[in-house]
Amino acid sequence: MNAFDLERFRRTVPYIHAHRGRCFVLHLDSVVLEGAGVDALLTDIAQLHALGVQVVLVFGTRCRINRVLPKSRFHEGCRITRAADMDAISAEVGAAHTEIQARLSCGLANTPMAGMQLRVLGGNLVAARPRGVRDGMDFERTGEVRRVEAEQIRALLDQGAIVLLPPLGDSPTGEVFNLDSIGLASVVAQATAADKLIYLHGESTLRARHGAIRQITAAGATELMHRRRLTPTWRRLLQSAVDASVSRVNRVHLLDARRNGVLPQELFTRQGSGIMLTRAEPYSPRQAELVDIGGILSLIGPLIEQGVLVARSREEIELHLANYRVIEVDGLIAACVCLLPLDSRHAELVCLAVHPEYRNQAFGQVLLDDACERASAQGAVKVYVLTTQAMHWFRGHGFELTSPRSLPVARRSFYNNRRGAKVLVKVLGDANG
Ligand SMILES: CC(C)(COP(=O)(O)OP(=O)(O)OC[C@H]1O[C@@H](n2cnc3c(N)ncnc32)[C@H](O)[C@@H]1OP(=O)(O)O)[C@@H](O)C(=O)NCCC(=O)NCCS
Repeated sequence: MNAFDLERFRRTVPYIHAHRGRCFVLHLDSVVLEGAGVDALLTDIAQLHALGVQVVLVFGTRCRINRVLPKSRFHEGCRITRAADMDAISAEVGAAHTEIQARLSCGLANTPMAGMQLRVLGGNLVAARPRGVRDGMDFERTGEVRRVEAEQIRALLDQGAIVLLPPLGDSPTGEVFNLDSIGLASVVAQATAADKLIYLHGESTLRARHGAIRQITAAGATELMHRRRLTPTWRRLLQSAVDASVSRVNRVHLLDARRNGVLPQELFTRQGSGIMLTRAEPYSPRQAELVDIGGILSLIGPLIEQGVLVARSREEIELHLANYRVIEVDGLIAACVCLLPLDSRHAELVCLAVHPEYRNQAFGQVLLDDACERASAQGAVKVYVLTTQAMHWFRGHGFELTSPRSLPVARRSFYNNRRGAKVLVKVLGDANG
């Protein structure tokens, strides 16, 4: 492995750590399934599973069904499924199911999936009811999800299987209903409380004035649906993404899967490759929790090794956890800071760190402002910081160089002369700040 690849691999490791054990519901659009890159995409999905992600795969069959039922009628982008069509639809869905399963199970030597021995399971996990009559239009065997067997899906995932769900649902009356796979993926993600819902679609990029949309909130997506002319598929994708997001799914990703490698690029690099939809504005600081300690240690570890930050053990972090704030991006602790009260009037900011991949995006500034606001709210009039390498950065944010002797007495006795850190202070409420 050359140095470049090694660096890349190292940058990937925190993402692997962040995604391991998480549940992702993936939706494979029929356009993508028919495309030339489907084998590479299924390999990427299998590798995601090999890295410890729990994968639920929902697939669409619209293109296949359009071929065998070219005269189908649609209402608002939704197929009207006649009872007589169901045999043809079931056959197409069954064929697609078998093909995906066979491709995922292919573990030939000299392929990227060699030795994986995947188990792909599913069946009977979605109950449906008729969509009924809308706008005077009877949708007949087009259905809606009535219930998802979330516990059974979770049990299959815990057994190490990939769960493959076709866009069909059974009803207690013994009928089979044709389901919209995009909506199905959203409902499954909500029912299983998935960590991510990922749409692998075949639509053109959504653009705003400043270029391709990369991030959007649920409110922003709703506004977009009101104000823009969108294809029926984009409309269903955005609506299903919003539904999942406002329910309980933290992140929804919308990726144009006709491009090779979109999935690993979205999940294992900072740049990403598609649109990420979040419930609220992303990247706001929050209180650190016990589960974040591992992420904080991974973030500050290299900086401690380089002598940029003072060493801090897991126990110390845990002891002062209430004073730590973090910014989490997609399961990764991307930045952290700790505000330690020194006495009733003074506080010290320690352990400010931003992951190298997230620097120069104002994460540092956001955490600093947040810390100063908290210090002020707690009655502090001055915030100190000791730094060996970020002196100019702090000066740019209203801190002034001062002498170690100006530290509050209790802190002064712990000042480490050998480290020689510069002491800076910010007077809160100062006009320069
Ligand atoms: C210092 C640090 C927290 C800044 O975080 P960040 O999110 O990248 O900072 P912001 O995006 O808010 O600011 C970026 C600006 O600061 C500048 N900057 C970043 N680090 C700097 C440093 N050490 N010295 C001077 N300027 C610096 C960048 O060049 C950029 O300038 P520009 O806006 O003119 O392009 C981050 O670089 C870091 O984690 N450093 C290592 C840990 C550390 O030194 N912590 C402080 C001790 S507690």
